[in-house]
Amino acid sequence: MSRTDDVRMPADPARPAEAIIRVERYPTTSRILHWLVAVLVLATWPLGFFIQFTKKEVTLDFYLVHESLGFLVLWIMLVRVGNKLVTRTPQREGPVVERVAATVVHALLYVFLIVMPISGFLATNAHGFPLIWFGLVPVWSPLGKSPDIAWTLSAIHEVSAWSLLALFALHIGAVLLHHVIRRDNTLYRML
Ligand code: HEM
Ligand code: HEM
Repeated sequence: MSRTDDVRMPADPARPAEAIIRVERYPTTSRILHWLVAVLVLATWPLGFFIQFTKKEVTLDFYLVHESLGFLVLWIMLVRVGNKLVTRTPQREGPVVERVAATVVHALLYVFLIVMPISGFLATNAHGFPLIWFGLVPVWSPLGKSPDIAWTLSAIHEVSAWSLLALFALHIGAVLLHHVIRRDNTLYRML
């Protein structure tokens, strides 16, 4: 369920210091899932990128941590899609064009946050390296070693990684625009 909370704004000379503004926030479950995925992705993405620059002795460890954290993102995203279907997204501020743009970028973020772990998981299996989650739990895969499609899956994973980065840049740009320039309540809705 969505709720409306009182948020005490920082003192502003134009307003009384104790001004109270009503903000319709994202439901608690949505906020927890947002920040959980954000932290995991902000760790998983650089880990994946830096694998190619690592010394041989630690390359496999980087793969293991990258793949295990990334795999976690898949399951949390499935829960998040379910959560999205049963909760209400609070009304956005700003012109229609911007609200539509936000919806499109958020939808694409959802798509790539699911495509990323699936393509990575299938790629590693196709290359002949099944995932053992955090070195503890062997994960069943519908795809065995398949050298003929392994590099295509890797390419999908790589293109998706850069697409996700571009979407994230747009996302942060929009958050900064709202918070620093417009000074509206967009960021408070997710806190
Ligand atoms: C949110 C989840 C994930 C993100 C954001 C992510 C991101 C990345 C990035 C940025 C790279 C480097 C691409 C490049 O070199 O330009 C990479 C490579 C790689 N990732 Fe992921 N990844 C995720 C999940 C996974 C999962 C779940 C697996 C496997 C179980 C995986 C397996 C790999 C592998 C094997 C590579 C090396 C390149 C390749 O063969 O595809 N990734 N990942
Ligand atoms: C690191 C700093 C981040 C900040 C400050 C931030 C902030 C926000 C805010 C304020 C919203 C609500 C926007 C609105 O109501 O229109 C939001 C939504 C969203 N953010 Fe972020 N975010 C961050 C990181 C990320 C990352 C890393 C991802 C994924 C790669 C992400 C994915 C999303 C998605 C998919 C939504 C839409 C939520 C929904 O409608 O269910 N965010 N974020």
